[in-house]
Amino acid sequence: MTSSSGSTAAGVRALLCAIMAVALAAAGCAPADGGRRGTIVFADGRDTSQGAQIKALVNRWNADHPGQYVRMVELPESTDDHRAQLAARAQDAVAAPSAANGCIDVIALDVVRTAEFAHWGYIEPLDPDEFDGKEFLPTTLETGRYRGRQYGIPLRADVGLLYYRKDVLDAEGMRPPQSWEELRRQAMTVAPRHGLAGYVTQLDRYEGFTVNALEAIWAAGGNVVNDKGEAVANPAEAVRGFQRIPQGLREGWILADSVDYNEEGARTAFQDGRALFMRNWTYAYRLLGAQGSPVLGKFGVAPLPWPSALGGWNLALSRCSRNRDTARAFIRYLTSESSERALFTGAGFAPARRALYEDPTLVRAYPHLPQIRRTVERARTRPVTPDYDWLSNTVQEHLYPTLTDPSAVAHRMSDLVGELRGPTSAG
Ligand code: GLC
Repeated sequence: MTSSSGSTAAGVRALLCAIMAVALAAAGCAPADGGRRGTIVFADGRDTSQGAQIKALVNRWNADHPGQYVRMVELPESTDDHRAQLAARAQDAVAAPSAANGCIDVIALDVVRTAEFAHWGYIEPLDPDEFDGKEFLPTTLETGRYRGRQYGIPLRADVGLLYYRKDVLDAEGMRPPQSWEELRRQAMTVAPRHGLAGYVTQLDRYEGFTVNALEAIWAAGGNVVNDKGEAVANPAEAVRGFQRIPQGLREGWILADSVDYNEEGARTAFQDGRALFMRNWTYAYRLLGAQGSPVLGKFGVAPLPWPSALGGWNLALSRCSRNRDTARAFIRYLTSESSERALFTGAGFAPARRALYEDPTLVRAYPHLPQIRRTVERARTRPVTPDYDWLSNTVQEHLYPTLTDPSAVAHRMSDLVGELRGPTSAG
């Protein structure tokens, strides 16, 4: 009797579970593999792209996926403020996992943040095969890896390029510079003849400054930290390399306003016809060449005359995410070939997918595409460490003040290396 009533109860329970599972799945809540579908939140930086391309893709997803609404949150444009907000949210979610209301399910992460977010458990490892891992340029896929596991799926590759006034260099019978010295010479001699400043770049105190500082240091064969974020022993070349920036400001061929510019500041100055050369990322190409742009048809783009830092943005899944099936499907959608194509043609964001670099139609319409691929493949990664934010801030703290004081570079550089050599909080 007991055993028969026990088995009846178990049978009823099994039946109820089966009915519940079917009902939940039908409501789009609980697919068989244990993931869940439903509304998710996606955070990206402010969509400054021509025609707000990211928002357009999110709108298309929402139109096609009833019951799996994606709410887009726009974070600040600067990668540092973007990181600060995401890290604060992720820390809250780790501290109070049950309060998942504030969870941002899918986050767009600058490549330099992978290590930090993975190390502290803010984001979940993903199976690269589920996301077409083999279809991405290996260098870009690598930016989403940390300690052998994949955390970020490349949304867009990024690399520094040298934008130049082609009309001016053509009139002078010159080609874009191939070294820092040649850049300086052309900026000092040619630019003034055409009423232009020589060179504009991002030297405000933020990650863009660190990028410019590292590139100047690398240009002279120097370094301050190796790829793992460990301080180097003898930074003599680093001093020589970095010093060229304050010297250029003092000599007047680097536009003085650069010390307050981020990417958009530099881009606007170049687009307004104020400078002969500009260092900027791939997105600027599309805006400079847009209808109504004062430099439309007048600018060209070349590799930087020094090693570029590898940039880019990946999509990651937050640990606090509950509707994970939707989150993973959305990551697949936004990093799909068709989305990356739309982001490139619409916004100028460099694709991370190999096939798009090999598409003859795209290459015909955008002749600089193969050049982007070559520079992405040769670009140098910034140090991969959970302490990257601290490291970058330390670089800024010591070197930013020397922009107005080239003579201070040597001792500030050795203070910097000394501080970087000190104990760090994470390993
Ligand atoms: C671009 C790059 C990113 C870099 C940032 C610096 O967004 O893609 O990797 O850290 O610029 O401002």
